[in-house]
Amino acid sequence: MPGVIALALLSGWKTALGAQSIEQKTQICARCHGADGKPVDKTIPIIWGQQAGYIYIELRDFKRGDRKSDIMQPIASSLERQDMLDIADYFSKKPWPDLGQPRASKEISIRAVNANQSIGCTGCHLDHFQGYGTVPRLAGMGRDYLAKQMTDFRSRARGNNPGMSDLMLATPPDDLAALAEYLAGL
Ligand code: HEC
Ligand code: HEC
Repeated sequence: MPGVIALALLSGWKTALGAQSIEQKTQICARCHGADGKPVDKTIPIIWGQQAGYIYIELRDFKRGDRKSDIMQPIASSLERQDMLDIADYFSKKPWPDLGQPRASKEISIRAVNANQSIGCTGCHLDHFQGYGTVPRLAGMGRDYLAKQMTDFRSRARGNNPGMSDLMLATPPDDLAALAEYLAGL
């Protein structure tokens, strides 16, 4: 009988640990990415509701050092591939938070829409910039974060996707600024 009880306890404990471990593994993320999905400052991206494939690729690239970040690299380094997949799945299922950023003015929007037409951002980021698979959602992302990432791709400071760098180099800085404001307000 005690054996049965021990077994029941053990399986209960295992379930609890299993359920807890994703919470434990993601507890640290909330400190910066926000307990309610709203990042604690403007340099930090939204990860709630982001595409799972994309979250996984970024964690992998941070760990490899292909995407440089003094903050994210040590965090990602402690994760194994399966942790990254589980974490990506976990955050992708959370609701995308509304940062309440203003819609871009008509002039800015026209500039951004024209830039999209010439570069074809929505060919990859999809209609309404919702992203898909390993392509990130951009709609409603923080404006300053978007602007910084596009600048970093342009200078190749963010070097984990040379294709995005080429596209950003083909886009004038004024258009990128307009795109950041437009995308933030979507
Ligand atoms: C100390 C603050 C901090 C903590 C803790 C933290 N992050 Fe980050 N995270 C950042 C910053 C800052 C960036 C942006 C890095 C850059 O500028 O390229 C980032 C970027 C990311 C990105 C890339 C998102 C995108 O849109 O490109 C992902 C994914 C991510 N973090 C996941 C996580 C996960 C999962 C955890 C917990 C295991 C976590 N982060 C913990 C600060 C943090
Ligand atoms: C050929 C497909 C493609 C096109 C066209 C494209 N992108 Fe991307 N974009 C990607 C992929 C893939 C990534 C993720 C790169 C990575 O793995 O880090 C990305 C990443 C980004 C990011 C970083 C988001 C984040 O959370 O860090 C921004 C911002 C961005 N793209 C903006 C744009 C804009 C604006 C345009 C049009 C001017 C554009 N992209 C055109 C494929 C594309």
